[in-house]
Amino acid sequence: MYLDSLGNVIPNMSTLGATAVGVPGTVAGIIEVHKKFGSLPLEEIFEPVIALAEKGVPVTANQEKRLASQREKFIEVNGDSTKFATEFKEGDIITYPALANTMRRIAQNGRDGFYKGETAQKLAAFIQEKGGFITEEDLEKYEAVWRQPIIFKYKDLRIISMSPPSSGGVTINQIFKMIEPYEVSDLGHNSAKTIQLFTEASRRAYADRNYYLGDPDFVDIPLDVLLSDGYLDERMRNFSFERATKSSDVERGNVEIVESMETTHYSIVDSEGNAVSVTTTLNGAYGSKLYSDELGFFLNNEMDDFSSKPGVPNMFGLIGAEANSIAPEKRMLSSMTPTIVEKDGKLWMVVGTPGGSTIITAVAQTILNAYEFDMSMQQAVNAPRFHHQWLRDMVIFEPEGFSDTLKEEMKSKGYIINEERTPIIGKVDAIKILPDGKLEGGADKRGDDAAVGY
Ligand code: DON
Repeated sequence: MYLDSLGNVIPNMSTLGATAVGVPGTVAGIIEVHKKFGSLPLEEIFEPVIALAEKGVPVTANQEKRLASQREKFIEVNGDSTKFATEFKEGDIITYPALANTMRRIAQNGRDGFYKGETAQKLAAFIQEKGGFITEEDLEKYEAVWRQPIIFKYKDLRIISMSPPSSGGVTINQIFKMIEPYEVSDLGHNSAKTIQLFTEASRRAYADRNYYLGDPDFVDIPLDVLLSDGYLDERMRNFSFERATKSSDVERGNVEIVESMETTHYSIVDSEGNAVSVTTTLNGAYGSKLYSDELGFFLNNEMDDFSSKPGVPNMFGLIGAEANSIAPEKRMLSSMTPTIVEKDGKLWMVVGTPGGSTIITAVAQTILNAYEFDMSMQQAVNAPRFHHQWLRDMVIFEPEGFSDTLKEEMKSKGYIINEERTPIIGKVDAIKILPDGKLEGGADKRGDDAAVGY
C-alpha cells in the first residue's frame, strides 16, 4: 500500500495526511463497553462533555509548545484557513463547537451517530477529497470486538492486560516471566543489574513481538509457546550479568528511533470498586494532522502501526514482519498496555500510559516499582525510566535520574546507551488500592496529568 514501483516505502504516506488514516475504532469501543457495563444513558454521559466542548478548554504551556511545533504541518495538510492554523497561546480558550455537534449525534444515535448517517458521509467524503481511501462502507462495517485479555501470574500478582491486536499484554507477560526467577528487589531499583535484567528480557520479548504478533483474526500467533515457562527459560538461557547480549545475535536489523506522540491513558476506580484501564490513540502527534473543521476532530495516522515493508522501521523504530502486514479489514499491531493488577484476589492497581513502543516497558517498570521496590503510586510513576526494544540495540535512559557511573558500568558490559537523545518515556497514570481500601493516584509529572478523587 505504501511502496513505490521499486518496492521502497514512500516517505510520509503512512504518517501524514489522509493516506495515513485507519478506520477510527474508539467510538465503537466505547459504545460497546457502555452497552455491556453502562448504568447511565448515553445522552446523560455526553452532556457535560458537550458542554465543555462548547465552553472551551484553556491551552496549557505544554500544549502551546506542541501546537506551535506542528502548526506548519497542520497548514501543509489542511490549508491555512483550518482552525489549528491559528497561533494559540497559553491561557487562550479553544472552543470545539463542531466536535460538540459530532458528539450530539453520537449521544443520540450511539454507534450509528458516528459510523452511519451525517458523520460517516462527511467523514468519508472529507478523507477521500484529501486523497485518502476510507469509504462510508468501511465505516459502517467497522466493529469493536470483545477479546479475552492476557492474564498471567507474577509472583503473587495476577496481571490482566490487553491481548492482540495489541502487543502490550503478550510482551509484558514475557518480560515479567523472564525476570520472575530473580530476586528483583534485592538487585536494587534502577541498579545496573536490574536495568540489565529488564533490558535483556525486553530485547528478547520485542524480537518476538515484531516477528510473531499481528491481528489474531488474520495470523496464527503461537501464544501457547511464546508464553510458556519452558520457552521463556530457554530464551533467557544465554543471559549473563557479565555481558550484554547483542540484538544482532537475537535477530538482525538496524534502526533509527524517531518518536512522536498522541496517545492518552486514563485509569479509573469507581465508588463500587469497578476498575477500568483505557488507552486510546491517534498514533503520532495530532495523528495524520488531518483535521476536519466540519466535524471537529483530528484523524489518526494508525496505518503506520502496520509494517509497511518487512524489515523497514515505523515511526517508533519498530521493525515488523509478515504477521503485521497490511490487509483489508485487518487491525494494526499496537503496543497499548492498559492493565489491571490483582493481588491476593483483590484489585491492586490500574495502570497504563502513552508512549508508542515504550508503553510496554513503562507499564512493566511502574508495576515493578510498586511491587518489588515498595514505592507509593506517585513515586512509582515519578521514578526515572529506561527502555530497550531489541532494535535498535540501545538502552535509552530518561534525562534525569541515571548517574554517569551507572551508565559507564553499563557501557563496560557492552551495552550501547543513548548519549544525545534523552527523551521522556511515557506519561503513566495509575491508581493503587491501599490495604485500608483507600485509593492512591499516581499522575505523571511529565505531562499535564492529574489525579482526582471522590
Ligand atoms: O497503538 C500503538 O502502539 C501506538 N499507536 C501508540 C502511539 C503512542 O503511544 C504515541 N504516543 N505517545
